[in-house]
Amino acid sequence: MPNNVIWTKNLKKSYPLIKSYRDLIRHPFQRNFIQALRGIDIAVPPQTCFCLVGPNGAGKTTLIKILTTLVLPNEGEAFILGHDVVREEALVKRLVGLAIAEERSFYWRLTGRQNLEFFAALYGFPHQEAKKRIEEVLELVGLTRDADKRFNTYSSGMRQLLGLARALLPEVEVIFVDEPTRSLDPQMAEKIRKFLRHELVDRQGKTVFWASHNLAEVEAYGQEVAIISKGKIQLQGRVKDLTDNGQRSLFEIYQQYVQPNGEELSGLNGRN
Ligand SMILES: Nc1ncnc2c1ncn2[C@@H]1O[C@H](COP(=O)(O)OP(=O)(O)OP(=O)(O)O)[C@@H](O)[C@H]1O
Ligand SMILES: [Mg+2]
Repeated sequence: MPNNVIWTKNLKKSYPLIKSYRDLIRHPFQRNFIQALRGIDIAVPPQTCFCLVGPNGAGKTTLIKILTTLVLPNEGEAFILGHDVVREEALVKRLVGLAIAEERSFYWRLTGRQNLEFFAALYGFPHQEAKKRIEEVLELVGLTRDADKRFNTYSSGMRQLLGLARALLPEVEVIFVDEPTRSLDPQMAEKIRKFLRHELVDRQGKTVFWASHNLAEVEAYGQEVAIISKGKIQLQGRVKDLTDNGQRSLFEIYQQYVQPNGEELSGLNGRN
């Protein structure tokens, strides 16, 4: 663990299932759970572009939420830069940036810039510093021109970019991005990929934890990849090693570890 920016051991998470009225009557004391994570072990070295891939419902977002202190694990341990995400929650919050796929936390009637001003204040930035930093991040994600338009007029791609800008507001070492290129057009998507890898990792020396469904982008921009399926890491390694320097496709490898049975979409129901 010493050198790893992110490190987890046997991390488990289950969510309670909301019962139907009928089940409530028939089995009032029985609780059902979805086991989202079933013992996750990962280690992410510093200054790495780390990609997490896996089918819908495999547990990617849940893992990101635990590592960024939004959700508590049921079992196991997780550390960011040596700090426990549960016991040192407040500290870990200051060490990580997060851009999550579904952005419902912005104020629709405020402009992009006003939204960032709000969050900068929340992060405790002094006013002048906030102004400067906001200009910087708007420029970085290419939103300067649209910064004074209201959020409710933004396209889904622009909303995603604003989410990324917000994740970059605080100067942090570790940035989590959940499907950052999901609804972006091809050129914008490529710009964001280059930004994550070349600017954040290669130039600024940050660690990026990137959940993705796009194996081509992982092949091209990821350094380390982990495949998650059924709540467990099935494989982790360097992209170059796993693909024999591009001789094998990541898709080929992915198919060996992920069964296309759709089982995960509905969750893996366990009982307690
Ligand atoms: N708040 C919640 N309450 C109940 N179940 C949940 C909750 N959040 C996630 N789950 C379940 O946990 C499992 C893992 O979900 P998660 O969102 O982490 O998967 P994912 O890998 O991010 O999927 P996707 O690729 O579709 O984004 C799924 O079965 C999902 O239905
Ligand atoms: Mg997800």
